[in-house]
Amino acid sequence: MLYGKGPMLTGGRCRSISVVVNSRLAKDLQLMRYFMIVASIVISSVPTISAADEFIDFGKDLFVEHCARCHGIDASGKGPDAADLKTVPADLTKISERRGGVWPMLEVMSILDGYLKVQEPRYDMPIITELNDGPNVEFDTGNGLVTRIPSRLIEIAEYLESIQSPKPERYVP
Ligand code: HEC
Repeated sequence: MLYGKGPMLTGGRCRSISVVVNSRLAKDLQLMRYFMIVASIVISSVPTISAADEFIDFGKDLFVEHCARCHGIDASGKGPDAADLKTVPADLTKISERRGGVWPMLEVMSILDGYLKVQEPRYDMPIITELNDGPNVEFDTGNGLVTRIPSRLIEIAEYLESIQSPKPERYVP
């Protein structure tokens, strides 16, 4: 009797197990598809690290090291040393907005290396001589001239460009 019911029972169980297995398999397949779709989206949206991104990263480190004490870690001008100055440190996310939406790469670098200090003194804004240390790289000024400029100056200017809000509408060398 038992034997007679056995296979039936087993058969019944087997069927239900196979249903479970099937639905698990279906779920697994669904999950796999889901992961494959998600993975392909993630892979396609991961930005490739370009030379420009690397410059921006190095620039950010330089900014934190040399500028944040006055301009603030968010560059808005509220660093811990700002209160001791007579002049309010400029909001460096608005460099382009103050110039009607123009990003002035060379002007920014000239403010930092002190080149503009005589014509346009900026009070309480020191010349950051450390930015002249390190290797020089070729920089295309956009007007047919290629000059050699300390790479740190370019790195920090690229970082500042990346944090402009709103984004610049025009770029001048
Ligand atoms: C000791 C404080 C101090 C430090 C350190 C400092 N700044 Fe400044 N910075 C100022 C002040 C103050 C002004 C505003 C000067 C003015 O309005 O005449 C200014 C102005 C500027 C301007 C001009 C903004 C414009 O729109 O014309 C730029 C660009 C700038 N700083 C970038 C930097 C960067 C980049 C660093 C770091 C490499 C730095 N500053 C470090 C105090 C500082």
